[in-house]
Order: sequence, then structure tokens, then C-alpha cells
Amino acid sequence: MSVGIGRERQFEVYVGGARGSYPTVPVSFHRLERAAQKAMSPEGYAYVAGGAGSEETMRENRAAFERWRIVPRILRDVSTRDTAVEVVGTRLTSPFVLCPIGVLEMAHRGADVAVARAAAAEGIPFVLSNQASRPMEETARAMGDAPRWFQLYWSTSNELVASFVSRAERSGCSAIVLTLDTTMLGWRIRDLDLAYLPFLRGKGIAQYTSDPVFVEALQDTLRQEAPHGGRITLAAVGTLLGQAGAYPGSRLANVRSGLARAAVRRFVETYSRPSLSWDDLAFLRERTRLPILLKGILHPADAATAIEHGMDGVIVSNHGGRQVDGALATMDALPSIVEAVAGRVPILLDSGVRSGADVFRALALGASAVGLGRPYVWGLAVGGEDGVRDVIRNLRADFDLTMGLSGVASTRDIGRENVTTRA
Ligand SMILES: Cc1cc2nc3c(=O)[nH]c(=O)nc-3n(C[C@H](O)[C@H](O)[C@H](O)COP(=O)(O)O)c2cc1C
Repeated sequence: MSVGIGRERQFEVYVGGARGSYPTVPVSFHRLERAAQKAMSPEGYAYVAGGAGSEETMRENRAAFERWRIVPRILRDVSTRDTAVEVVGTRLTSPFVLCPIGVLEMAHRGADVAVARAAAAEGIPFVLSNQASRPMEETARAMGDAPRWFQLYWSTSNELVASFVSRAERSGCSAIVLTLDTTMLGWRIRDLDLAYLPFLRGKGIAQYTSDPVFVEALQDTLRQEAPHGGRITLAAVGTLLGQAGAYPGSRLANVRSGLARAAVRRFVETYSRPSLSWDDLAFLRERTRLPILLKGILHPADAATAIEHGMDGVIVSNHGGRQVDGALATMDALPSIVEAVAGRVPILLDSGVRSGADVFRALALGASAVGLGRPYVWGLAVGGEDGVRDVIRNLRADFDLTMGLSGVASTRDIGRENVTTRA
């Protein structure tokens, strides 16, 4: 009989220690982040770690989790525990998915493919980012039959949106996550102080440069491309070479043809669509039979309207505090959204999930599953594929033990009675 992932992982670590081998990927979130910082460039670290403004929302996300206290129960036979859940037809071995995170090449050269392999090995769905460092086809191939979803940003071109969605379908993605809180980038002070935006260096635009609609449109940009003006500095040459590396083919040929620079310019023109409104959703609904989840929901009325528009799920998220500083914490937003949704569609939550207790608390308030973000990026930076795998295993283990020790044997039985607010 299996002792469950929690005890298995504990034994693995402790027995390793008894034989003289210690975890290379720190179990503690704070030590993990510090180790990742050492492994990354200052710009890469700032991009992942940072939030909008004074990072109040990031702190609030944590504080809101901590306001909810678990009330453990005893003598309830928790010898076998079922941690699995099903969300929009996808099975999760533990109730979390890996959030879509762009520009993973800044953490590790294995980038999206390394994360994909780790997620597949653990039976945890990976949400492939619209701003990925590798084309979705390549990442999907690394996953075999393991579950994956695709996250979409709605660009200025509906033709490009349709192309991304049909590529996601062909790549075996079983849901579309439409992120709606990033029609413009938030005011991110760490990145502004370093004057660094990865996309302008040709990073995180692989879904575009591998897309037939985008590549076709690039010819227009090439024709209009202004002759290269301004002073030639070392930094400018570095940027140009970086951009060239992002486009398929040889770097030198890409610099010569102007393709790489044009791709970045075209991306900047295409990426964002602040005019997006509810009526636009019909376009997406008609184009795919896959379940669609809206990500970035913080108001109950928006959750209800999403359902009226035929959406299949909502993700309560403030983008890890990267968009609106001073925004509501996701755990504070969750209860009223659960009430408005009234069980009609699944609700996921992300932003600040760091432990098994966080997963448990979100489920207790009515989430079906949560999204894990920054922690797996730190694992990637420290240990590549194995690092991500360790982070996933640790969270799975921590959740399994938290659930059992709280007196609950199955995710189905986690409910509002398992938590209370701090007096
Ligand atoms: C470096 C970084 C890049 C991100 N890129 C994307 C993205 O491409 N698409 C998206 O929907 N969300 C993106 N997010 C937001 C995450 O999906 C998720 O909402 C957030 O990381 C949750 O917060 P947490 O990591 O603090 O738990 C990104 C977050 C980070 C930290």
C-alpha cells in the first residue's frame, strides 16, 4: 500500500541526508529564491521577482493567505489520501497547475521544455505561455500525452489569435486560458530602473516568430522598416544580436536581413489590445470547442458575466501583483466570486501560493485548484528540469501531509469548515 506522496518525499529527503546527500534545490521558498537569484542575471531576477509599484499587492497576497487559519480535526482515518482533482476535463494528480510564465529562458536555457518535462513526469498540467521562449509545438512534444493548456494574450490581430488557438489545439492543449489583466504592462519599478524589457531583446516571442500568420505579416514590417538611425553603441549591437538569436536561422543572416529587428518591432505593434471588451469573446468562443478559462478575475460581477458569455472557468488572479499595485489580494477576492459563480464553473486561484497550506486554504474557500507561479521558476533557475520537479514534488508532498494532518482524506471533503479567520 502506498504511503502517499507526502511521506514518500520525506523519506527520500531524510534517507538521502543519512547517506550524506542533501537537497540541492532548497525546500524553503525564501532560500530557494535566494539560490535562484545567484543563478540568474540581475535583469532576469528582477523581471521574475518584481511586481507593480511598491509591490504592495504582492505582500497583500501573502497576508491574505495568512489571515485564514486551518482548524485540524483528529481521529478520522487518513491512512490513504486522495489528492487528485479534475478541472474542465483535465486530471491533476494534486490540485494545482503550473501557471503560464513568459520568458523562462531568463531562468535556464532549458526554459519551457525543461518545465514541460518536469510537469509531465508529475502529472501536473503546464499552462504554456503566450510569451514563451520556445514554440508551443516543441514544448508539447516534450510532454507526450501529459496534460497541458495554452494561455492566450489577445493581440491586435484576430487572425493571429485564431492561429495561436488552432496551433494550441493541434499541440494537444486541452483548454485555453485567456489572460485579461495585461492589456498593457503594469508599472514595474525594478524593470524600469534597469531599463530592461526582455521582449525588446528578442526574448519571450517564440510563439510569434514560429507562427505563419505573424511571419507573413512581418514582410509588411520589413518593407516599412526605417533605415537604422542613431548612434551605434555596444549596447545597441548586443541588443541586435540578442534579437537575432530569437529568430529561427543564423544570427548573422538575421541581422543582415533585418528580420530579427522587424520581428521585435512587429511584436511590439501586435502584442497589446487595450480596446478588448466582452463582445470580443464571441470570436474566440466560435473558434474553439476547447474549454476557455478567463484569467485575471477579481470582481464577482466579472465572474458572473464570464459565465453568461459561455466561458468554462475563471482564474482569480492579480498576476502575482505585477499589474495593479494596491489591488485586492486573490484570497480576499475569492469568497464573493465563489458566491457569484455558485458552482456553475470551476474556479482556480493564483498569486502568492507558496505551500501546501496555501493550496488547502484556497480549496477550503471554494477553489477547485490553484496555480503555482514564481516557485517553479526559481526551481528552474537552480536546477533546470530536476529543479522544477523537486519544487513540484515538494508542494505535492506538503499538500498531501497538510490535508491528512488536518483530518481530511480526500480533496472532495475539503470545505469552509476546515478554516477560520484569525480572531
Ligand atoms: C516572470 C513572470 C512572467 C509571467 N508571464 C505570464 C504570462 O506570460 N502569461 C500569464 O497569463 N501570466 C503570466 N504571469 C503571471 C502568472 O501566470 C501568475 O498569475 C503569477 O505568477 C502568480 O503569482 P505568484 O507567482 O506570485 O504566485 C507571469 C508571472 C511572472 C512572475
